[in-house]
Amino acid sequence: MAEPITDDKSGETPAEKKVKLWDFPVRLFHWALVAAIITSWWTNQQVMIDLHAIAGYTILALVLFRIIWGFVGSSNARFSSFLTGPKRVLGYASKVPKGSVAELTYAGHNPAGGWMVVVLLVLVGIQAVSGLFASEDTFLFFDGPLVAYASSDVARIMNWIHHTNINLIYVAVGLHVFAALFYLVVKRENLIGAMVTGVRKVPAELATSFQTIRFKSPVLGIAILAICGVIVWGIVTLARSG
Ligand code: HEM
Ligand code: HEM
Repeated sequence: MAEPITDDKSGETPAEKKVKLWDFPVRLFHWALVAAIITSWWTNQQVMIDLHAIAGYTILALVLFRIIWGFVGSSNARFSSFLTGPKRVLGYASKVPKGSVAELTYAGHNPAGGWMVVVLLVLVGIQAVSGLFASEDTFLFFDGPLVAYASSDVARIMNWIHHTNINLIYVAVGLHVFAALFYLVVKRENLIGAMVTGVRKVPAELATSFQTIRFKSPVLGIAILAICGVIVWGIVTLARSG
């Protein structure tokens, strides 16, 4: 089959347009989160508890940032733009196997993916917060910074949550990565590339819906992220010194 004729060196074809989809703060958040989760998993394997804790604090700051950005960030990063009722989620899910690109393309998260974002944020948030109360008292003798402020019952429950919830994270991340690869291989839609570069190629007739995205200043995003980092660092430092 003949290749489509490209109109310039941008890689666009007359039938396809490159559109901006994700702002820089969302992309920074995503890949920093992935790196920090891999680090927290690996440092746990290597029994490097101090680094494990630092990776955990980083994750806490990232999740805090993403929650705030979900209210004040670019229009398609806002929870209100991608969280819909069960009818639309089921309607979307039923279209996935045979739906056309037009039916499956959203200028943000699709209705099913939107809820997955919330599931991932909640699980990762629970993991990071429970870690603040987790202890290892067999040979590392490490206490999370908030253990001293909790009753032994609360600390025990948090420790249990920390060791149990990680399995839910494995399942959710597994489904999430499977979905991203499914779109890439089966639907031939490169959502992963868009999360890296911020840009997605879509059929020209869909491009106008992407022009309605209102992007917030990346500097604002970085400033909010920095403040979240300072808040988490402050809580941990105060708790350790108190
Ligand atoms: C989202 C962030 C985090 C992730 C993904 C994570 C992941 C893990 C994993 C996979 C384990 C091993 C669980 C098991 O073997 O059953 C673990 C244990 C532990 N984590 Fe975290 N953690 C995070 C945050 C934190 C934080 C912030 C702290 C404390 C500052 C912390 C302290 C601990 C402690 C004390 C243990 C017990 C180690 C042991 O029993 O050998 N974690 N964490
Ligand atoms: C630790 C593992 C991961 C976690 C916790 C995670 C979490 C998330 C979260 C919270 C979002 C929403 C982004 C936002 O709106 O701010 C997201 C989106 C996304 N992630 Fe991940 N992610 C992980 C790994 C990966 C990997 C390895 C890939 C690539 C294979 C990937 C591909 C994507 C894509 C393509 C999107 C955008 C989906 C869409 O277009 O609606 N993620 N991820």
